[in-house]
Amino acid sequence: MAKSEDTIISLQHVTKRFKDGFVAVEDFNLDIKRGEFVTLLGPSGCGKTTTLRMIAGFDIPSEGTILLSGKDITKLPPHRRPVNTVFQHYALFPNLDVYDNVAFGLKMKRVSKEVKGWNGKMRTRTRGPEHRFSFRRPAAARRHR
Ligand SMILES: Nc1ncnc2c1ncn2[C@@H]1O[C@H](COP(=O)(O)OP(=O)(O)O)[C@@H](O)[C@H]1O
Ligand SMILES: [Mg+2]
Repeated sequence: MAKSEDTIISLQHVTKRFKDGFVAVEDFNLDIKRGEFVTLLGPSGCGKTTTLRMIAGFDIPSEGTILLSGKDITKLPPHRRPVNTVFQHYALFPNLDVYDNVAFGLKMKRVSKEVKGWNGKMRTRTRGPEHRFSFRRPAAARRHR
């Protein structure tokens, strides 16, 4: 059995009641352990995104507590918690190639190149206009629009 210190994210009695009184998440409890891959599955409107937004800090729970490695982060603003969100629609810079898109966050955080461990080969393989992102929808998705 996993030890309690193996719990990375813990949601304890988390409720989100929006200003209009609508309760999107009610008394939700979830422990995510180190190395676990967790998927929230449920019908549209059941509160998946609201839960993720609370973990990221974009929404603050009305009740309950969110712990990250045992530390209470319930009311911590998004930039103060080491949690990242990858949105369904990627927020990429179309003018940058793959390398610079990946490097952007690390540059903002001033992570040194040595720590990044990126070598010249990686740079060469992800540079140039052919490595720019295309925002065109895949052919299959366009057909069924
Ligand atoms: N800011 C808000 N104010 C009021 N209701 C909201 C707000 N954001 C989301 N909701 C409602 O909360 C419910 C859960 O939404 P959401 O978490 O986006 O669901 P899911 O991601 O599971 O589809 C939905 O009924 C949605 O309309
Ligand atoms: Mg959603």
